[in-house]
Amino acid sequence: MSKKILVLPGDGIGQEIVAEAVKVLRCLQADHGLAVELIDGVVGGTAYDQTGSPLPEETLAQARACDAVLLGAVGGPKWEGLDIAVRPEKGLLGLRKELGLFANLRPAILYPQLAEASTLKAEVVSGLDLMIVRELTGGIYFGQPRGVRTLDNGEREGFNTLVYRESEIERIVRSAMEIAMRRNKRVCSVDKANVLEATELWREVANRVGQEYPEVELSHMYVDNAAMQLVRAPKQFDVMVTTNMFGDILSDCAAMLTGSIGMLPSASLDANGKGMYEPIHGSAPDIAGKGVANPLATILSVAMMLRYSLNQPELAERVEQAVQQVLSQGLRTADIDSPGMTRLTTAQMGDAVVAGL
Ligand code: IPM
Ligand code: MG
Repeated sequence: MSKKILVLPGDGIGQEIVAEAVKVLRCLQADHGLAVELIDGVVGGTAYDQTGSPLPEETLAQARACDAVLLGAVGGPKWEGLDIAVRPEKGLLGLRKELGLFANLRPAILYPQLAEASTLKAEVVSGLDLMIVRELTGGIYFGQPRGVRTLDNGEREGFNTLVYRESEIERIVRSAMEIAMRRNKRVCSVDKANVLEATELWREVANRVGQEYPEVELSHMYVDNAAMQLVRAPKQFDVMVTTNMFGDILSDCAAMLTGSIGMLPSASLDANGKGMYEPIHGSAPDIAGKGVANPLATILSVAMMLRYSLNQPELAERVEQAVQQVLSQGLRTADIDSPGMTRLTTAQMGDAVVAGL
C-alpha cells in the first residue's frame, strides 16, 4: 500500500531545498520501488500570505491523514512584524504540538570528507557521531501562562513558563534510551537542575527511567557545561537527551561541529512512528532564491523518513550513501566548499545525489 507524504516547503530556501528532496523521492519511486504518494501543502509565512494563518486547517488535516511530513523551513523578515500568534514559526510549532511529535532526533555526524569544513580542529571532530534527542512538544516553548503584561507602574513584563510533567519526561528519556540501545549505550541527560526545579524533576525522572535500562550508562550534565563540552570534546557523547529549549540551542551548536548546519537532518516522531522530517537549519532569507542553499540536510531528512516512518532501512542507507558519494567526488555547495572542490548550485547538488542513486 502506498504511503502518503505531505510536502510542505514553507518559506525562504525551504522551497529550493524541498524541491531537491522531492527529486530524490521521485527517483526512489521510479527506480527503486518506493510506493509513496506526494501531497503538496502550505505552511508558515507562505500559508499566512495565502490564507491568513501559518497553519491552515487544511494543512493540519492533510498532515493528520499522512504517514509522514517533509518540511523545508519557515519564517523570514517579511513576517517578523506580525503578531506572535500568526508568525510563521507558529505553523511549525502547531504541527509539532497537534501531531504529538514529542521526540525530536537530531543526529550530528561528521562525514570524513567534510573534516576540513568544520571550524573546529579535525582531530576534535573527526569520527563524530552523536544523537541529540530533544523534547519537542513541552517545556518553555508551550508552557502556560505566557505573554507580556503591564504592571501597576506602567512597566511591561514578559513571561514564559518552563513546565514538565513526569509523563512527558519519562517518554522522551525512554525514547533516548531505546535509541542508545541501538548505538553505543550511553545517554547524557542535560538539565539545569542546580537552578530550575522543573529540570531537577527532569533529572530525578531520568534516573528512574534509567533503571529500566541497566545496559545503558546514564550520566547528567548541566546545560552550560554541555555547551562547553560540545565544542571542547564532542566525541565523549553518544546520545544526549534534553528539554525543548536546551535541545534547540545545543543542536545548532552540534551542527557546526559537522562543518555546516546545511548538513543536518531531523526527525520529529510521535508515539507510533509517524513523523515530520526537516533540516535543522532555518529558512535563510538572506540566500533564498539564489540557488546556493545546501539541499543535503533535507535529502538526509528523507533518509530518516525512510528509516523511521516508511520502514525502508535499505533505501535510507542508499540515500545516505549517495550523499557520501557526492561528497567524495568533491562536489560542494557554498556552505561546505573548500579549495580544490567543485562548487554546485542547489539544483545541481540534488541532481548529483539522484545520479548517485
Ligand atoms: C528549530 C527552529 C525552531 C525551534 C523555530 C523555527 C521555531 O529553531 O527547529 O530548531 O525553535 O524549534
Ligand atoms: Mg533551532
